[in-house]
Amino acid sequence: MKPIVMAGGTGSRLWPKSRAAFPKQFLTLTSEHSMLQDTLSRLTGIEHEAPVFVCNDAHRFIVAEQLLQAGIQHDGILLEPVGRNTAPAIALAALHATQNGEDPVLLVLAADHLIENIAAFHAAIRHAESLAKQDKLVTFGIVPTCAHTGYGYIRQGNAIENSQGYSVAEFVEKPDLATAEQYLASGAYLWNSGMFMFKASRYLQELEKHAPDILTICRQAIASESQDLDFVRVDSDIFAGCPSDSIDYAVMEKTQDAAVIPLDAGWSDVGSWSSLWEVQKKDANGNVVRGDAILENVHNSYINAEQRLIALVGIDDVVVVETKDAILVAHKDKVQDIKKVVDTLKAQQ
Ligand code: GDD
Ligand code: MG
Repeated sequence: MKPIVMAGGTGSRLWPKSRAAFPKQFLTLTSEHSMLQDTLSRLTGIEHEAPVFVCNDAHRFIVAEQLLQAGIQHDGILLEPVGRNTAPAIALAALHATQNGEDPVLLVLAADHLIENIAAFHAAIRHAESLAKQDKLVTFGIVPTCAHTGYGYIRQGNAIENSQGYSVAEFVEKPDLATAEQYLASGAYLWNSGMFMFKASRYLQELEKHAPDILTICRQAIASESQDLDFVRVDSDIFAGCPSDSIDYAVMEKTQDAAVIPLDAGWSDVGSWSSLWEVQKKDANGNVVRGDAILENVHNSYINAEQRLIALVGIDDVVVVETKDAILVAHKDKVQDIKKVVDTLKAQQ
C-alpha cells in the first residue's frame, strides 16, 4: 500500500492562522506537530511503501522542511503549478506511482484531518486494502452527527461478502441543507471521510470513463515531469489547462464500483474553529485555550493567542484568535462565514 497525501488545500475557514502562504495542513493546531506530520505518523505500525505528496508549488519548501524535520522518507513531492482540486492531484500521483510498471494500492489521505483512535483506523485500512485489491474504489464512512453541507454523503448498500465493507448505493457530494437533513433523519447515510483506497490503475480507468479530459491533460503534464531535488514538477502550461474538479464529483459520484468501510475512530476534518473546539480538551468552563489568556466568567469558547495576552470577561461561545497582524473575534456558531472575510481580503488585494 502506498500513501498519497493531498496537501494542496487553502483551509480558509481557519483564518487568521491559516493563510494562502501557510495553510492549515502545515499548522500545529491539534498536537505538537503539524497536521501534515501527524498524517504520516498515524501510519506508524501499518506496513506501507514510501508516500507521495502532492502540493502547490508555492508550498514546496514548507512540505520538504516538515518532512525532513519529522524524518519522513518519501517517494516524491509532486508540485502543482496551480491548484486544480483533488481529481487531477490524485491522477498525477497515480500516474507517478505507475510509471515503472507497478500498480500499487493507493491510500489517499487528506493532510488536514484528525483521527484519535489509531488502532480502529489501522483496522479500517486493512479491511479497505482487501477490497481495493478486488478492484473496488473504497471510501471510509463516518456516522453523521449533524446535517453538515460540507461533506459527501454515502448511502450504504449491501454488505460485500467476505469483507467488512458495503457497496455504495449512492454517493452525493455536498448536498444542500434540506437534502442533508433528510439524509440524516433517514439513518441510511454515512459521511465521506475524504480518504480513499484503490489500485492506481482502477482510479485511472474510472477517470478515463468519467472525466477523460482530466486524465488526458494529467498524462501529458506528467510525461514532461522534471525532477529537481525531492521535487517533481509537471508541465505548468499543460496542467493550467486541466479542468478543476474534486475526486468526489468527478469519480466517486459516478463509479459503479465504490465500496465503503465504516470508520469509527474519532475522525474530524478540523474544517473550522468550532470543529477544532469540539475535538480538543476543554477546561472546567468548556474553554479551549492555547497561548496566554486571562478568562473571567467565560464559557465554551476557543481562544488562541500567538503573541499577545488575550483577556475576556463575561462572554460565552466565542472564538478569539490573535496573530501578529490580525485578530479574529467571532461567534462560535458563525465561524463558517470566516470564508467571507477571506474573500473580502482577496478582493482588496
Ligand atoms: N494537491 C492538492 N491539490 N491537494 C488539494 C487540492 C489541490 O488542488 N485541493 C484540495 N486539496 C487537499 C486539501 O488540502 C485536503 O487535504 C484534501 O485535498 C481535501 O480537500 P478539501 O478542499 O478539504 O475538500 P473538502 O473538505 O471540501 O471535501 C472533501 O473532504 C470531506 C471530508 O473532510 C470531500 O472528499 C468530501 O466528500 C468529504 O466529506
Ligand atoms: Mg476538507
